[in-house]
Amino acid sequence: MSATNQPDPEARRRVVEQDLDNVMHPILQHKALERSQMVVTGAQGSTIVDADGTTYLDAMAGLWCVNIGYGRAELAQIAAEQMQQMAYYPHTAMNLPAAQLAEQINQLMGGDYHTYFVNSGSEANEAGFKVARQYAKHEFPGEFRFKTIGRYYAYHGTTLATLAAGGMGDRKVKFEPYAGEFIHVPAPTCYRCPLGLEYPSCKVACATAIETTIQGEGPQTVAEVIVEPIMSGVGVAVPPDEYLPMVEQICRKYDVLLHVDEVINGFGRTGKMFGHQHYGISPDIMAVAKGIVSAYLPIAATVVKNHVFQSFLGEVAEARQVMQVNTYGGHPVAAAVASRNIEIMLEEKLPERAASMGDYLMAGLKDRLFRHGIVGDIRGKGLLIGIELVTDRDSRVQLEGAHIQAVLDRCKANGVIVGRSGGGSRHSNTVVLSPPLIITRSECDTLIEALDRAIGHVVALRAGRA
Ligand SMILES: Cc1ncc(COP(=O)(O)O)c(C=O)c1O
Repeated sequence: MSATNQPDPEARRRVVEQDLDNVMHPILQHKALERSQMVVTGAQGSTIVDADGTTYLDAMAGLWCVNIGYGRAELAQIAAEQMQQMAYYPHTAMNLPAAQLAEQINQLMGGDYHTYFVNSGSEANEAGFKVARQYAKHEFPGEFRFKTIGRYYAYHGTTLATLAAGGMGDRKVKFEPYAGEFIHVPAPTCYRCPLGLEYPSCKVACATAIETTIQGEGPQTVAEVIVEPIMSGVGVAVPPDEYLPMVEQICRKYDVLLHVDEVINGFGRTGKMFGHQHYGISPDIMAVAKGIVSAYLPIAATVVKNHVFQSFLGEVAEARQVMQVNTYGGHPVAAAVASRNIEIMLEEKLPERAASMGDYLMAGLKDRLFRHGIVGDIRGKGLLIGIELVTDRDSRVQLEGAHIQAVLDRCKANGVIVGRSGGGSRHSNTVVLSPPLIITRSECDTLIEALDRAIGHVVALRAGRA
């Protein structure tokens, strides 16, 4: 492909052929890819470029991850220098970039944490489950604490254990059965309350359900509760303000660890460095990925509070150490890039920018989109936003799948990429936005305009006018 992003039809044709003959892609049906034939060759700021020269405003930051935006050449420089200096050595020894990155994370978390490095968000949560179990083995030797309590419709990753911990049936069903140590409770998806209640008269019953569940399972069998502060994949579910403090209190009452999944929420996305910081809670285990390195290289981490870390300390003969190793954990090149990524976020005040630009985008979306009767709800925090589409606002019946897809397709045809929630027939009717945190006001205006036009088109389609 041309490095200058000049359209090169012959090179594009070769990639398409090579790809379709050899690659097995994730999640997307190949037939759809055969039709779209999207080949991304360049990216800068919030914009990506297809090999045919078409540019798109990427309002999903890739997969909710390119937080500092595309095309930061200095990160390439840092990676090259680190590769020449010391490309790799296993993290059974120390290395400077990983130590520095762990210190940065600890500072962002207030100074009471240690970090264990892995390569993806799934691995970060998976290691979190294992930390919780091993901690329980050390600290509660007479008990058998091994269960994780999660929420229906949560997404925590793609490995068997993280899928089991998550609650998206349509993502899970083809790989069943799962082991039984992951228990689910109703999620704080207030627009479609799973308990049929309304806030605030519900008294946040979805939080108290966690206590009932711990009691029902037997507290001596429960190792941890996992929560994503603002649930992303299910269509951006912002919980009531009391929800997470209540969950934390329940965890403390039963000596159950609080495992917070910050894979999407983390690193500025919601207008604070970490999503849980909106709610004043303090995780025992925190999974981070994506924004930690803005996806320039693969790196992720399981961050543990020092009282948990202490449990892994002892004489060599006691065998209390973390009982796993992964080849690329603490990779010096990825760590060096992640470290600079975080510095950039702080220098450019990107969490604050996400808060203010998120307010601007939210106000514009509400102003323009609520004019359409099929827009049921617009919610979010910072630059994590969901627009729930319904057949009509009173009934809240989910808009037909084909029409939600038509909104996405129409946006793309107009040069804007937006996402769609998962969550099967109950929750996959939300258009989701998670743009780079450097998105400009005029790009927000473009995004609002594209959504307005696309939703207007679907309204006309449904009325038989298009
Ligand atoms: C909340 C959450 N947790 C975990 C993961 C898994 O991360 P990865 O795809 O890097 O394994 C994701 C991925 O989108 C996610 O959204």
